[in-house]
Amino acid sequence: MLYVKELTRRFGTNTAVDRVSFEIDRPMMVGVIGRSGAGKSTLLRMVNRMTEATSGQVLFDGEDVLALRGKARRAWQARCAMIFQQFNLVPRLDVVSNVLHGTLNRRSTLATVFNLYSASDIHRAIDILDRLGIAEQAAKRAEALSGGQQQRVAIARALMQDPRIILADEPIASLDPMNAQVVMATLRRIHEEDGRTVIANLHTLDTARRYCDRVIGMRDGRMVFDGAPELLTTQVAREIYGANADFSEAATSTEIETLERADDSYALSMMGP
Ligand SMILES: Nc1ncnc2c1ncn2[C@@H]1O[C@H](COP(=O)(O)OP(=O)(O)OP(=O)(O)O)[C@@H](O)[C@H]1O
Ligand SMILES: [Mg+2]
Repeated sequence: MLYVKELTRRFGTNTAVDRVSFEIDRPMMVGVIGRSGAGKSTLLRMVNRMTEATSGQVLFDGEDVLALRGKARRAWQARCAMIFQQFNLVPRLDVVSNVLHGTLNRRSTLATVFNLYSASDIHRAIDILDRLGIAEQAAKRAEALSGGQQQRVAIARALMQDPRIILADEPIASLDPMNAQVVMATLRRIHEEDGRTVIANLHTLDTARRYCDRVIGMRDGRMVFDGAPELLTTQVAREIYGANADFSEAATSTEIETLERADDSYALSMMGP
């Protein structure tokens, strides 16, 4: 499916992503963790072609993603839809129209200019909203919704493109814990029920452990861990986050202390309600 090889991005003398390689050979849910500046966003954006790679390869079903131009590049961006921390909705536009924006890639210029959507697209948009539990919000302006609802609208917009991969860049970083869980559970469901691959940048270990089949740990642009969440020991977490004097990510540092205090009961508690 997705094959990333020696993917590298330099900004001047700074190497944001340094020869990262991994392969996703079946649909799965992958969490990418690492402290701020580790290169998580740059990695996802290169896969999506929002950011150009300096060197390396991205293959999807054997196709050379980094070589795609114009229409083919846009088609790829629809097949690996991206969602963002700040939802990126049009705030004053109603929810259904926001979701229908997910069809932009395949509509003619004329249809786009006149805001013409086919009846079948509109039905599909409402079906997707219904599936995500927010159909009642369809006529409201996006800005009137809670953060968790807005992120589900963004997921619905991504689903309109029927993507094989969903790339989520810190999808829950702006949400309260309750909404964060709803959004992560939604992504998990989409993976399990539709067989779509989800790759999500996440700030905290516990979220990655709870929802992902596989965790990629990044530090200073390099991939320092790639494996099942069970293998993410305290030692490994320290390597990823560089837990030392300047370690300041409150949520994650709490997590590491928890791990140290009760390695076994911790794992169990994460399975809880
Ligand atoms: N457009 C850019 N121009 C210059 N440097 C950049 C650019 N985008 C990212 N960088 C640098 O690349 C490195 C990786 O940034 P990136 O945003 O990928 O990290 P991140 O892991 O997503 O961090 P965060 O958790 O804060 O979102 C950082 O040093 C950052 O300053
Ligand atoms: Mg980022």
